[in-house]
Amino acid sequence: MENVAAVLLAAGKGTRMKSGLVKVLHPAAGRPMIDYPVTAARVVGAKPVVLVVGHQAEAVQERFRAADDIRCVLQEEQLGTGHAVACARDVLAGFSGTVVILCGDTPLLRAETLKRLIDFHHARTATVTVLTAMMDDPYGYGRVVRDNSGKVLRIVEQKDADPRERDIREINSGIYCMDAAFLFDNIGNVGSDNAQQEFYLTDLVAVAAGKGLACLALCSDDAEEIMGVNDLSQLAEASRCLRRRINRELMLSGVTIVDPDQTYIDQGVAIGADSTVHPNCHISGATIIGSGCVIDSNVSISDCRIADNCHVKAGSVLEGSELQESVAVGPMAHLRPGTVLHAHVKIGNFVETKKIVMGEGSKASHLTYLGDAEIGRDVNIGCGTITCNYDGKNKHRTVIGDRVFIGSDVQLVAPVTVGRNSLVAAGTTVTIDVPPDSLAISRVPQVNKDGWRLKKK
Ligand code: UD1
Ligand code: CA
Repeated sequence: MENVAAVLLAAGKGTRMKSGLVKVLHPAAGRPMIDYPVTAARVVGAKPVVLVVGHQAEAVQERFRAADDIRCVLQEEQLGTGHAVACARDVLAGFSGTVVILCGDTPLLRAETLKRLIDFHHARTATVTVLTAMMDDPYGYGRVVRDNSGKVLRIVEQKDADPRERDIREINSGIYCMDAAFLFDNIGNVGSDNAQQEFYLTDLVAVAAGKGLACLALCSDDAEEIMGVNDLSQLAEASRCLRRRINRELMLSGVTIVDPDQTYIDQGVAIGADSTVHPNCHISGATIIGSGCVIDSNVSISDCRIADNCHVKAGSVLEGSELQESVAVGPMAHLRPGTVLHAHVKIGNFVETKKIVMGEGSKASHLTYLGDAEIGRDVNIGCGTITCNYDGKNKHRTVIGDRVFIGSDVQLVAPVTVGRNSLVAAGTTVTIDVPPDSLAISRVPQVNKDGWRLKKK
């Protein structure tokens, strides 16, 4: 197979986004938009992948700092797509073969489509091949002008098109294959005599056609895939398409999604077969969910590892936590980062946890805060228990041994340890360590005053 390199245009600010964040870093289904074309370029084996960066260059570059197949070049002033590609000339000096040109704002492009474009380009030994599509509403895109025999002549931008050209429904996706020698020999000669006074990459189509070189268009039958995101409304639309794909793939792999139109699962999330996700759940980040799990409605899960047969009940929020198998959480529980729940743990309603490990079979069923704690196995944490982990300056640890029973409404003033198999009576404030196998109780003894209410009158 011939050499393939990619040039990805990502220097523009994205003025129409009306946002302080550069366009290509806006997330679509949980990933910066630019990740999608970068991934597609990698999947088809492009090397190197050259990113043309400009606006917020450092932030864009930072994203790919660790990637040695990615080279960034700076386009200091955004003088147009043609000028942007010309910026990649030096990094690709000595490269011969096919240059795939992509845009940072087309997150829906599939690697398979890109592969098809490259194969088409090579099979016909073309100089330039443009990926195009038919659009019912082509507004804003460049139009593909062909002659009577269907030969591609040039591409005309919306702003430069005459009314007849504006009626053309075949649009330029902004995705191309070009012979490297042709590209870099000619890109310097493109002018900026047009409505936007920009150096248009699209002018190379007319250059190739004018020279009688093979200049082709591959018309994709999926217009959705090459949708360019220029504003936040289009970003929402693109995100919806991505989510639909993600959900479909999960469903085909055996996950029940009760209402895919109202389920928000980000790119990269894994869910095992025979799990069920109810409506209005948000599952994001590096989350992995096993099989046989049930995620009730209105649950938000980010960066969690959830083993098989867990049940996350309605309205719960789980962040950066690990659930081993057969754990039940919620309804309305909040697991904050650093929570590790061993098998068969039960966390009930209105329980908040942070940086805790809870051993197998332990329970905290109601209205509790557990932070910075190490809790053994088969421990019962009574309703209303609080680990007082913060003294206003520092956080302190609470250690609770195996088989401890903590009664209701207990405060554990950390640092403090409750030894294994002890019982802490309801209403106790634990301020000193409790040895194993003991009873800890701190209560003012109750006094009943007979007839007290009657005497008051
Ligand atoms: C471009 C095409 C248009 C096509 C459309 C598809 C040109 C002249 N027009 O128009 O035919 O239908 O894409 O979505 O190419 N960029 C730079 N440096 C620049 C200018 C742009 O890096 O100086 C980058 C942008 O960040 C963006 C991409 O190039 O990722 C496309 O630029 P944009 O301004 O969105 O072009 P369109 O007007 O959409
Ligand atoms: Ca665009």
